[in-house]
Amino acid sequence: MKNIRNFCIIAHIDHGKSTLADRLLQITNTVTERELQNQVLDDMDLEREKGITIKSHAIQMEYELDGQNYILNLIDTPGHVDFSYEVSRSIAACEGALLIVDAAQSIQAQTISNLYLALENDLEIIPVLNKIDLPSANPEEVTDDIVDLLGCKPEEVLRVSGKTGEGVEHLLHTIIEKVPAPQGDPEAPLQALIFDSVYNPFRGIEAFYKVVNGQIKKGQEVKFMATGKKYGADEVGTLKLKQVEKKLISTGDVGYIISGIKDASEVKVGDTITSVENPAKEAIAGFEEVKPMVFAGIYPVDTEDYEELRYSIEKLRLNDASLTFEPESSAALGFGFRCGFLGMLHLEIIQERLEREFDMNVITTVPNVSYHAFTEKYPDKMILVNNPSELPDPSGLNRVEEPYIRASIITKSDFVGQVMTLCIEKRGILINQNYLTQHRVELIFELPLAEVVFDFYDRLKSISKGYASFDYQPLDMRASKLVKVDILINAEPVDALSALIHVDNAYGIGKKMCEKLKELIPRQQFDIPIQAAIGAKIIARETIKALRKDVTAKCYGGDISRKRKLLEKQKAGKKKMRQIGRVEVPQSAFLAVLKLN
Ligand code: GTP
Repeated sequence: MKNIRNFCIIAHIDHGKSTLADRLLQITNTVTERELQNQVLDDMDLEREKGITIKSHAIQMEYELDGQNYILNLIDTPGHVDFSYEVSRSIAACEGALLIVDAAQSIQAQTISNLYLALENDLEIIPVLNKIDLPSANPEEVTDDIVDLLGCKPEEVLRVSGKTGEGVEHLLHTIIEKVPAPQGDPEAPLQALIFDSVYNPFRGIEAFYKVVNGQIKKGQEVKFMATGKKYGADEVGTLKLKQVEKKLISTGDVGYIISGIKDASEVKVGDTITSVENPAKEAIAGFEEVKPMVFAGIYPVDTEDYEELRYSIEKLRLNDASLTFEPESSAALGFGFRCGFLGMLHLEIIQERLEREFDMNVITTVPNVSYHAFTEKYPDKMILVNNPSELPDPSGLNRVEEPYIRASIITKSDFVGQVMTLCIEKRGILINQNYLTQHRVELIFELPLAEVVFDFYDRLKSISKGYASFDYQPLDMRASKLVKVDILINAEPVDALSALIHVDNAYGIGKKMCEKLKELIPRQQFDIPIQAAIGAKIIARETIKALRKDVTAKCYGGDISRKRKLLEKQKAGKKKMRQIGRVEVPQSAFLAVLKLN
């Protein structure tokens, strides 16, 4: 145990976590040159493309220093706000953290939020200035920023380049020197903290854990304390590039367990594994049930694909327990599912996986957050509203509450004005303004989560020319004046386009939605009115003018193959269309409200 080091890398997105991890694996000969494809830790295709580590994993390295053999467990942490609970559990499994800061970009929102998590868990922090090879690197200034943030000495900030390998060997020595060995009692009853799990179609769920006390043995009967379920430990082992089966994993070490579990919802990140024979008295502190924050309807483009969609979502849910779903129906879209996601990125990932891995063609409706509604009749009875259509009739409504978040935005001082304007337009309340350095400011805002779901990231990025980073934590529920804005296409209400909007913004947003839909819905053989309404009151209107020309007209009857090609193209285009009454509406229109600016 005294030669084990458990550590993680905390960094803002793109500050070079994966590249540095690769270099560590290479220097410790955990992977050979040939095995070292770029970024071995990101093994899902989608992660590679998005450049984001979506699912955390762990990898064990061995290293010899001064005649001693050390075991170094690198626990990877996902790098996006949507997955912050997973990050917190990975951090809880470590004794040390490398705080990586890009030498050109300096400290960003996630550097700080992850640092706080690490400090809360009493981790030893090793500050690392990365990408020192970059011509645009600004090592002196960024070192000062780090010193300000941590209160460490400038010489304690290690300078490395994950790309060239410079300074990485020294970093390894520092990890061994500074990160404390895990503590824990090998004789105590088993307590292992689950920090992640993955789904393997052949072997079932693989759970990853750190043994905090006791030992976990192959063949032993174990219990997962939060779910209360019992399993046989069919296989345990450590995580190298491949899994290495072992007879037992002892206190302080990190490993995997396979026990024939088929459903991801039985393995909860943050849960404690104990032994059935000699159970621990209590679970490791900090377990939380992750709750979805954002909801949207997912419908098949072709109504006949409903059963297949159900099958696909069920399959996805097997390896992603944070996805929730239940059947719902929409007057406009027919049968589909109301799905709950951790955030907007999670929604995007699920939609993409449905399309890529399951070849499903789906329509996603306007996402919304989860509201609490109270009626005049029962003002104390909370009604959960995960879909605008579930909102009780406004005449009998006492109040509606919506979730607020505490947002931290770090930007250059030049952009503070614009960022504040945006946050205030989004109903934000400024809580604090904190100059990290002369040129960098942290703004703390309380914001309604719903406003962040609607095009917040994109606008923040554009007004700050990319120099703003954003992070948030859920705060509380607050009463707000919200109204349901409905959209009518050709006089028919399209429930999938309804949204709950603050009364002050309802007119503006209703108008913009009509304008956007006018752009997105192709002209057809007749005039199509598009209206926004609150209750029976129309608040905005646009008209899509009728199209006169026949699509085939310009082929002057001559070339039949050309004509056929054109018709086929039209048919393929149609697949992405949905018939609403007499009007064909493209898939993109259902998300129009997200892109109003
Ligand atoms: P996420 O997984 O999205 O959080 O990103 P990451 O922090 O793992 O960053 P990644 O390692 O993918 O690196 C981001 C980009 O920076 C890539 O284009 C890397 O090639 C580049 N990069 C990483 N380390 C270095 C470095 O030391 N020097 C230079 N010049 N570029 C680097």
